[in-house]
Amino acid sequence: MREDVRILLVGEPKVGKTSLIMSLVSEEFPEEVPARAEEITIPADVTPERIPTHIIDYSASEQTDDELQDEINRANVVCVVYDVNKESTIKKIQSKWIPLVNGRTEKGNRIPVILVGNKSDLQGASSMETILPIMNQFMEIETCVECSAKNLKNISELFFYAQKAVLHPTAPLYNPEDKQ
Ligand code: GTP
Ligand code: MG
Repeated sequence: MREDVRILLVGEPKVGKTSLIMSLVSEEFPEEVPARAEEITIPADVTPERIPTHIIDYSASEQTDDELQDEINRANVVCVVYDVNKESTIKKIQSKWIPLVNGRTEKGNRIPVILVGNKSDLQGASSMETILPIMNQFMEIETCVECSAKNLKNISELFFYAQKAVLHPTAPLYNPEDKQ
């Protein structure tokens, strides 16, 4: 059986990765956050799946590309965070983050990915219309969730989905790439 789960948050600068982690831990929105949160470990008995869970932050201002790649290699699941109000942060899911996470991994070995649309408190329209084609393009995307670190919406859900993606991965019904 698996001993623990490592959840890594990545995404463009200022989308709210650190705020999401701090909101989860303190159950309130931190007005000021460091660039990168310390690694936190949630003890087994307070996680939904009863398994120790590590949450790891990433910040381009504090880490090199090599350090990022090391963290990706150690992660069991990667949350790609975007800002629901900023299309440029959504574009980078396809052009940068998914290739970085799984570009070099073998087909059967892909790291599960959760798409996390943060800042839903500032939201005009839902980002789902833009996100759905991306979900269809990449089989490793387990699910997507819109949330807000500010009003604490869907924060615990997001970490639950991440845990679940590792412990109970959903096997794809068929792999479109195998059909070609
Ligand atoms: P880097 O470490 O630079 O990559 O940024 P980050 O992704 O960790 O973002 P950070 O948590 O520092 O948040 C960036 C800004 O967005 C801060 O001013 C936060 O207060 C704000 N912010 C974060 N989450 C939310 C949210 O859910 N709603 C709103 N309105 N603002 C948010
Ligand atoms: Mg940060």
